[in-house]
Amino acid sequence: MKVANRSVIITGNWKMYKTGEDARNYVKALIPRVKDSAAKIYLAVPFTAITPARQTAQGSSIVIGGQNMHDATEGAFTGEIAAQMLLEVGAQFVLIGHSERRRLFNEDNAFINRKVKKALADGLQPTLCIGETLEERDQGLTEQTLTTQLSECLADLKATQCAGLILAYEPVWAIGTDRSATPELAQEAHQICRNWLEENLGKRLAQKTVIQYGGSVKPENAKSLLDQPDIDGLLVGAASLKVDSFSAIVNLVQEGSL
Ligand code: PGA
Repeated sequence: MKVANRSVIITGNWKMYKTGEDARNYVKALIPRVKDSAAKIYLAVPFTAITPARQTAQGSSIVIGGQNMHDATEGAFTGEIAAQMLLEVGAQFVLIGHSERRRLFNEDNAFINRKVKKALADGLQPTLCIGETLEERDQGLTEQTLTTQLSECLADLKATQCAGLILAYEPVWAIGTDRSATPELAQEAHQICRNWLEENLGKRLAQKTVIQYGGSVKPENAKSLLDQPDIDGLLVGAASLKVDSFSAIVNLVQEGSL
């Protein structure tokens, strides 16, 4: 049973898929399909799809966001985007520190920390992504990796500043691999994260913070993951690209179902 004051948030991460027109069609098709779900629905879409997705989502409770941002207010950072720019086009949240950003674009914890601080300061809700690699897990370093990521990515932040922060535990070996973590293993990692939050930012924030699981989530495995006490939502990549599979996941969340 979930702690009553935590919402269940299901986020779709489209990565570099879908144009603005695709986004309009998708959101239009999604709205009637998920009207009975008790989940909060978030979509992290490509920058160019934010405005069309937001316009189409108008009047529904679907929340639209971006997949990355820079920590500077503005500057000579070719190809980057600022928090205010995301807000201007209608983003309400942003993914920060996704493992693809870390691995392919060399983002480190210090940079991610600056981004989280900037998003919070500017009123853009951050979803901070963390997770261990397969080597780290095999070497028994999962807990150490997660707590290091948390202390470095949330460095210098007080509990009052972190209200609204979403945490996504995404084991790197489970992303896009068709190899999801077992519910028990994911629960164990979520418990590590919640304990860290409690020890470092206090019990109140730890109890309130939504911790999502991500990595090969599908309609077939979503329910057993959501049934875990510390899994408060899901970050869904591939299965969020089709309305059918994403709505099937979202519709697992019904009033009193978890
Ligand atoms: P996946 O991606 O569901 O395709 O494994 C998850 C993610 O990258 O957030």
